[in-house]
Amino acid sequence: MRKPKVTTLKTPPMVQIESTVELAEALAVQIAGILGQAIQSTGVASLVVSGGSTPKPLFEALRGQPLEWDKVTVTLADERWVPEDSPDSNAAFVKNTLLQERAATAQFVSLYEAGKAPHEGVADVDRRIKAVATPFSVVVLGMGGDGHTASLFPGAPGTQAALEESEAMVCIVEPQSVPQTRITLTLAALMNTECQLLHITGTEKRALVDEVLADPAASPYPIAQFLRADNPRISVYSTH
Ligand code: 6PG
Repeated sequence: MRKPKVTTLKTPPMVQIESTVELAEALAVQIAGILGQAIQSTGVASLVVSGGSTPKPLFEALRGQPLEWDKVTVTLADERWVPEDSPDSNAAFVKNTLLQERAATAQFVSLYEAGKAPHEGVADVDRRIKAVATPFSVVVLGMGGDGHTASLFPGAPGTQAALEESEAMVCIVEPQSVPQTRITLTLAALMNTECQLLHITGTEKRALVDEVLADPAASPYPIAQFLRADNPRISVYSTH
């Protein structure tokens, strides 16, 4: 009789803390530790963060962490193509909640070009992002209920190009499900990091992650690219 094919489902390291504040604090300590090690070994560190509502307690916990923030470059996994005075601006969100207190001395690299349309400004942003030392030290990802991460929205115009792009580090995506044009780091850019941390809250997002983990290679969701068994960088921080 043929031996059964045994596949061990490799799940990424999971940190599960039910309190959103305590989860954020644990994640902040983890990020600060990685940034501190990067500074110790290379003299600099780079942190890529996501927008949305989940990161607020993380940013509030991270900004007080004792490290040489003046040696840290902070940028975004994605941005809505809006000026910083827009309530939808991720840059404004990061500047107002993360780049305060001790973190106020960090360098910030924007993904938006004022006064330019997305397809006019994307090359300037790409040049700016390519000036940030890679591999990034840490990439913090969120996830939407549709399985998007950064602005890699499933089925949106621009997403497939961003998943396949190997030269440019940023792409324009036009999701139908959100009001603004987005600019996103490409899959390759988001993979070019020492560490990826997926930060999610709630039972629905955890259920979606578990569904993807059952067979990431077969999943249609962009988040699945990061949850593949052959991606050693990813860890999941979840309330459930
Ligand atoms: C953005 C984020 C986006 C976010 C998810 C989850 O610009 O909105 O980068 O990818 O991480 O949409 O958003 P919530 O944290 O609000 O659920």
